[in-house]
Amino acid sequence: MPKPVKHVFVCSQSRPEGHPRGSCASKGSSEVLQTFWRELQQHNAYDRVAVTYSGCLGPCDGGVNVLVYPEGVLYQQVTAKDVKEIFDSHLMGDQIVSRLCAPASAW
Ligand code: FES
Repeated sequence: MPKPVKHVFVCSQSRPEGHPRGSCASKGSSEVLQTFWRELQQHNAYDRVAVTYSGCLGPCDGGVNVLVYPEGVLYQQVTAKDVKEIFDSHLMGDQIVSRLCAPASAW
């Protein structure tokens, strides 16, 4: 496997219903993750992009959270409808999708 140029982590943490922190799973992380994998397949970008599910990334309030390295860009409130834009613009085109970026206070 080639070393990825971009590595995407999709928070897929779940928690019991009523938990005070909520979770990205309850906000649709599975659909977001599946959509990233579908875009990866459609772009045949396996030599450039890796997509991995992760546990809690920290700022649960803003889920679904998606973290992209090497830039360390955190996207928040990501839905499946946002994934194509992130993929085309950032992962393939190196242009960060600023409208979805977490504020500095998120960390
Ligand atoms: S549950 Fe996703 S960031 Fe905490």
